[in-house]
Amino acid sequence: MNSPVSAKPLALVTGASAGIGYELAALFAINGFDLIATGRSDTTEQAAVDLARHGVQVTPVRADLAQAEGVETVWQAVEKTGRPLDVAVLNAGRSIGGAFLDTDLDDELALIDLNVTSVVHLAKHVARHMAANARGRILITSSLSATLPTPYETVYGPSRAFTRMFALGLREELKEHGVSVTTLMPGATDSEFHARAGMNNTAFGTGAKKNSRKDVARQGFLALMEGKAEIVGGDAATKRTALKHRFMPETLKAARHARKAKPRP
Ligand SMILES: NC(=O)c1ccc[n+]([C@@H]2O[C@H](COP(=O)([O-])OP(=O)(O)OC[C@H]3O[C@@H](n4cnc5c(N)ncnc54)[C@H](OP(=O)(O)O)[C@@H]3O)[C@@H](O)[C@H]2O)c1
Repeated sequence: MNSPVSAKPLALVTGASAGIGYELAALFAINGFDLIATGRSDTTEQAAVDLARHGVQVTPVRADLAQAEGVETVWQAVEKTGRPLDVAVLNAGRSIGGAFLDTDLDDELALIDLNVTSVVHLAKHVARHMAANARGRILITSSLSATLPTPYETVYGPSRAFTRMFALGLREELKEHGVSVTTLMPGATDSEFHARAGMNNTAFGTGAKKNSRKDVARQGFLALMEGKAEIVGGDAATKRTALKHRFMPETLKAARHARKAKPRP
């Protein structure tokens, strides 16, 4: 016998298997949303089991979002529910640390596929679906790195700058369709992110002071539910940095970031 169709709202969260995405998914679960929770690794299923403890239905989807087929797999999982999608959190992403002269080109092109292409691809499905229903909320994870050049993660910052401007543009377009778009811009946050980027031998490595991923997720969740355009995720110092970046020359910001992100010999 099929399980009865849930009357709860439905949220899609990409990158829900770890880090900020997991904490965002947990907030939706706590607030009574059923979830489609995506990840790439085999922790995706365990994360779904943990999230379901909040008394909601959680569908895990394992897919590589750097591949167009992976994005389609995720969207098919949404369509399979036959339910309207109330919230979409486009959060999966990664960085690559190291000197551009040394880093691997294919890896960097795959980063663009994930951080840029997959966001546009999935947003196309989500936006058309939500506009047809005349309701919905979209949270797109960008970064404080969208506000500066990011030497020694030279491809990452621009990928998040794209995400930010894409989200703000989409917000303006979707307003008249009853769909709200919010951008989350976390500062450095305690997750797997910097280790996975190979940045443990930088000022962002082990022992660095970082924002709590739970706090960042809570701020993103609240901003989304309040329909805000964007929110800098993190403590007061992180928010001050975002403000200062508005008035600093890009060249100065680049030099400061290089000092922090350059691998130590
Ligand atoms: N942490 C920070 O300092 C920081 C700062 C600013 C912005 N952000 C942004 O926040 C977002 C989340 O990062 P995080 O800190 O939570 O990092 P994280 O702990 O490394 O988690 C990344 C999530 O994205 C998923 N993912 C990575 N590559 C994927 C791929 N190719 N296909 C599908 N899913 C993939 C991971 O899945 P698996 O674990 O299953 O592989 C994981 O669920 C990213 O977009 C990042 O740019 C992070």
